[in-house]
Amino acid sequence: MSVIELTINDRSVRGDVESRVHLGDFLRDTQNLTGTHLGCEHGVCGACTVLVDGEPVRSCITFAVACDQQKVRTIEGFDDDELMKRLRRSFSIHHGLQCGYCTPGMLITARDIVRRFPDADEARIRLELSGNLCRCTGYMGIVAAISAVLADLKENPIAIAQAPVTRAVVSDATISALAFETFAAAPASAPQAAVAASTASTDQPATLRKGWTAIDDSFVVPFALDKVWAFMGDLPSVTSCLPGAELVEQDGESVKGRIAIKFGPMSANFAGAARLERNDAAHRAVMRGAGQDNISRSRANGDVTYALSSEDDGARTRVAVTLEYMLQGPLAQFSRSGLVKDFVRRMIADFGARITAQLGGSATPEAAASASSAKFNAGSLVWSVIWGRIRQLFGKGD
Ligand code: FES
Ligand code: FES
Repeated sequence: MSVIELTINDRSVRGDVESRVHLGDFLRDTQNLTGTHLGCEHGVCGACTVLVDGEPVRSCITFAVACDQQKVRTIEGFDDDELMKRLRRSFSIHHGLQCGYCTPGMLITARDIVRRFPDADEARIRLELSGNLCRCTGYMGIVAAISAVLADLKENPIAIAQAPVTRAVVSDATISALAFETFAAAPASAPQAAVAASTASTDQPATLRKGWTAIDDSFVVPFALDKVWAFMGDLPSVTSCLPGAELVEQDGESVKGRIAIKFGPMSANFAGAARLERNDAAHRAVMRGAGQDNISRSRANGDVTYALSSEDDGARTRVAVTLEYMLQGPLAQFSRSGLVKDFVRRMIADFGARITAQLGGSATPEAAASASSAKFNAGSLVWSVIWGRIRQLFGKGD
């Protein structure tokens, strides 16, 4: 048993919990906060979503002991929240609920969407809601309810602590490409201005280690190989091309860092360390790293291998990337989904766009990502599950 002290809905709570007790069970069984619903209990349906230190998390895969000294807010804790009042009213008006089982998680996720994406369109709302499942109402009413609140806020604004989008988010380009399609093959037609994403990818190299997942992809940048190779060895610059990533310490080829990610309503903040091994003669490098999410206590190990080769008589460089990773803990269930793999490939393309902009010296990474597609800003979706590797890649990421 462990003693934990936390704040739940502005109330200080002290309790004895066994290490294996999840936050959802702790809230329901010891605090009588039964508004937090448990559906799948596998981190998939989102019914159990609560806020931990202001970030949506799935309480069914979050250990209570991991929330020691943190602030938890459940659906019962929003009675004085004007934004939540509007959402509740709008859900009723637009028939955003039927049995109501998914509704607590839906509302908390909806509030997060409104705070982070004040200009969200339907595609963005649907994507951000993709981790919350409703078994009876369907999503039209829910999406309409959120859209109505966003529109109303422009007419009748209220003071909302706008949440900065510090987590990696799916780029609008990615949404556009995936919207309402299956997540099967991502057409390579997306507007990658200077980046020609090539995707002859295979998921499982012959040498793949047991329990690991691998994704191969590549992108092309319009610069000579030597220039690209030099850039890829500059870890601060590379990190700046990764949305949500932060490099906190560097000692030669070793780095420590973190990466905040969001995959639908699931959030993670991985911290870890990585080491870069470069072969200058072969223009090949491997970043090996490991990290842990401090909320779900999921762990990740990963290698990111990239190899450069010249194309078009040296005018362009192809960067072949192989991500191999293994997730352990509650987030492991997401590591092999086709959705994640597809997102990862698109993230690699966005990463290439950002590198192109950095090397060109003409745009910020955000602008570069924007330029890489019709109207999107940053592309970081891929990082969701691949976090493991990417975070390791760029600084402790996950
Ligand atoms: S109960 Fe389904 S995600 Fe937690
Ligand atoms: S309203 Fe019944 S599961 Fe969503």
